[in-house]
Amino acid sequence: MKSLDLTRPQLIRLPRIHDPRGNLTFAQNPGALPFTLRRAYWIYDVPAGEERGGHSHREMAQMLVAVGGSFNVNVCDGFSWRTFTLNRPFEGLFIPPGIWRTLDNFSSGAVCLSLVSTDYAESDYIRDFEEFREIARKCPPVL
Ligand code: TYD
Repeated sequence: MKSLDLTRPQLIRLPRIHDPRGNLTFAQNPGALPFTLRRAYWIYDVPAGEERGGHSHREMAQMLVAVGGSFNVNVCDGFSWRTFTLNRPFEGLFIPPGIWRTLDNFSSGAVCLSLVSTDYAESDYIRDFEEFREIARKCPPVL
């Protein structure tokens, strides 16, 4: 597999085991998951029009997968924004630390699986966009 640029958000194709009984996808490190998995959480039952996220992380790397339905992930590096639509259970969006993200446009029944590299710690969050922008603009753009 070609090496990934771990400084920027990007879609990663995950292994897909086709089977007439139903398909199967996995994420492991080493492999398509570019960090050691420490924690998983999932977001579901999102009412129409609601938005999740709205923060960045100081240390935590993450992979998001639409294991059901679809939603948009809007990412910002402090300079510009980019939107990824997730709607395939065999595709992960890698997000390195230092990237602001919001999640919106959830379809009915959408489930966002989040695989992450660290324990939960509120101190790892930056929840103020201006504070984020000030820190992020000290680094080169990655989007
Ligand atoms: P948050 O990460 O802000 O949600 P979003 O994905 O929309 O950005 O988390 C929402 C709440 O859940 C917050 O009070 C912290 C809590 N939480 C945990 O206790 N453990 C976890 O692993 C996560 C991800 C969140």
